[in-house]
Amino acid sequence: MKGIVLAGGTGSRLYPLTLATSKQLLAVYDKPMLYYPLSVLMLAGIRDILIISNPDVVPQMRHLLGDGSRLGLNVSYAEQKEPRGIAEAFLIGASHIGHDRSALILGDNLFHGAGFYSLLQREARSGNGCTLFGYSVSDPERYGIAETDADGQLISISEKPLRPRSNQAITGLYFYDNDVVSIAAELRPSDRGELEITDVHQEYLRQRRAALVPLSRGYTWMDCGTHASLLAASQYVQVIQERQGVRVACLEEIALRMGFIDAETCYELGASMRQSDYGRYLTEIAFAHDEGRWKDC
Ligand code: TTP
Repeated sequence: MKGIVLAGGTGSRLYPLTLATSKQLLAVYDKPMLYYPLSVLMLAGIRDILIISNPDVVPQMRHLLGDGSRLGLNVSYAEQKEPRGIAEAFLIGASHIGHDRSALILGDNLFHGAGFYSLLQREARSGNGCTLFGYSVSDPERYGIAETDADGQLISISEKPLRPRSNQAITGLYFYDNDVVSIAAELRPSDRGELEITDVHQEYLRQRRAALVPLSRGYTWMDCGTHASLLAASQYVQVIQERQGVRVACLEEIALRMGFIDAETCYELGASMRQSDYGRYLTEIAFAHDEGRWKDC
């Protein structure tokens, strides 16, 4: 399965924070926002990852993550010249996807919760045409909303409905079979001039090949697109990390756990940042790994 992080856009709701830098490079507590969606793809076992962003931002992201090899990944980059919609990711990423299945995650989405690894592993292997992940929200009129029947089958999707038929918001993580590339290629821009991801999902739904996996209340899903939600995400990460002594979306730790890198590499990555708590954490988990002590995530 190939992964795509869509990390462009204007970030206009975060002005003036995003006038001179990209939203996805802003801090969510102790690490760049981009680490959070990347961690999800890694937990799903995906190592071939394309990061799509604005032309002026791609060099900064490349500076941050390089070719991904130090995390045992193969990271490549592509430009989205203008924010012409989320579904454009499949046109820009068509050659990256090739004949494979793909996972798309939005660059400002944070997911966290016990059991997420197993859920991602299971869904990455599922034979669905497309898999959407639902999350119960208190303000469904602000989101794409999924409706399911009594058996949990997805029966409708509506974008920011005035009268929502459920409170299951469709989150910014999606798994697809290879047809997504040809479906996206057939799309026409919407009234607001964008290739809409919801139109991709409507097509899968029409073909009865779309499934919804509800994330239970034990999970956290946030997007970091406003000043308040950016602060809330930082506070959430701080509270969890300080209380539990383990880190959220620590890419080097995930790479170690997934077997993408060995303990020695993890230690060296930590040592290169030993001035920070983050770096020291990496050296500690590298030791713990070597000694067979393994903290829960
Ligand atoms: P949005 O939050 O809808 O848009 P935005 O990031 O431009 O922010 P704002 O509304 O404040 O102007 O986008 C969701 C995610 O998808 C975000 O990570 C940016 C990304 N995105 C793109 O990379 N390209 C696009 O064409 C669109 C529409 C979004």
